[in-house]
Amino acid sequence: MTDSKTGRNTDRTTSRTTRSSIEIHLGDNLEVIRGFADGRFDLIYIDPPFNTGRRQRRTQLRTELADDGDRVGWSEKRYRTTRLASRWFADAFGDDYIAFLEPRLEEAHRLLAPDGSFFLHLDYREVHYAKVVLDGIFGRASFMNEIIWAYDYGARSRTRWSPKHDNILWYAKDPAHYTFNLDAADRIPYMAPRLVGAEKVARGKTPTDTWWHTIVSPNGKEKTGYPTQKPLGVIERLVAVHSNAGDQLLDFFAGSGTLGAAAAKLGRNAVLVDDSGDAVDVMRKRLPHATLTSRSAGDKQ
Ligand SMILES: C[S@@+](CC[C@H](N)C(=O)[O-])C[C@H]1O[C@@H](n2cnc3c(N)ncnc32)[C@H](O)[C@@H]1O
Repeated sequence: MTDSKTGRNTDRTTSRTTRSSIEIHLGDNLEVIRGFADGRFDLIYIDPPFNTGRRQRRTQLRTELADDGDRVGWSEKRYRTTRLASRWFADAFGDDYIAFLEPRLEEAHRLLAPDGSFFLHLDYREVHYAKVVLDGIFGRASFMNEIIWAYDYGARSRTRWSPKHDNILWYAKDPAHYTFNLDAADRIPYMAPRLVGAEKVARGKTPTDTWWHTIVSPNGKEKTGYPTQKPLGVIERLVAVHSNAGDQLLDFFAGSGTLGAAAAKLGRNAVLVDDSGDAVDVMRKRLPHATLTSRSAGDKQ
């Protein structure tokens, strides 16, 4: 099958036969990615700190049955909770946030292949400022979509509408040539199934720019314990639609390595960069066949 926009063969969208190559780099991302060659990557996704003004922290707990436990649960059983570890990273840049991000966005543009796509994942705090900067770097015509990832979890405000979505800006390096394998997307249920036939209900619809998806469940198998981990379902959809098997992917704010997990599952290669030792520990556990490079200041590749 050939994609109407890109002219590319889209039969290569998923292949589990190719073994992915996954590289992890520990170090400041600007320093690391400045060493990569122009046009090396087909897809770049980044999920930088959102400038929440807080330390992002996640504490991992283990709860087990214990006769002397301090908590009484269902059917009167006693449980003991042990604190295993806390992982955290700083997320308070104040007014310097865009100054921090801008040189990294310029590098992302340089590193993209001529038909590559870039995704910037933020929330309402900084997304509008970042869009203005990206329009300057890529050109306004290269702005393809703002994807809204909507979820419904956590406390609700009584003084304003509770923010329950993130924003993912998509830029194509060349708005006339890019990968968009819509048929590779998972399909979503009809909202009013009684208005369409059984065949359509069974097939589902293609997604729009608004993606409903639960957050990573605090008790689910997917959870790595890394703060701000993004759901694999969201990142897998991006990877399936916007890249082909064997492509080179980059995430230089990699955290727990969700982009790498999606790449490994879908037969793509990925380079993951983070400056936190905690993040690298989590990624190595999650992606055991990945190779690790630690960069100290002054190294050149
Ligand atoms: C929001 S988290 C990414 C979460 C990730 N998408 C996931 O699913 O787990 C942002 C990450 O950026 C990293 N980071 C912040 N500043 C960095 C820098 N200058 N160089 C490399 N990594 C950085 C933090 O350590 C953190 O792991």
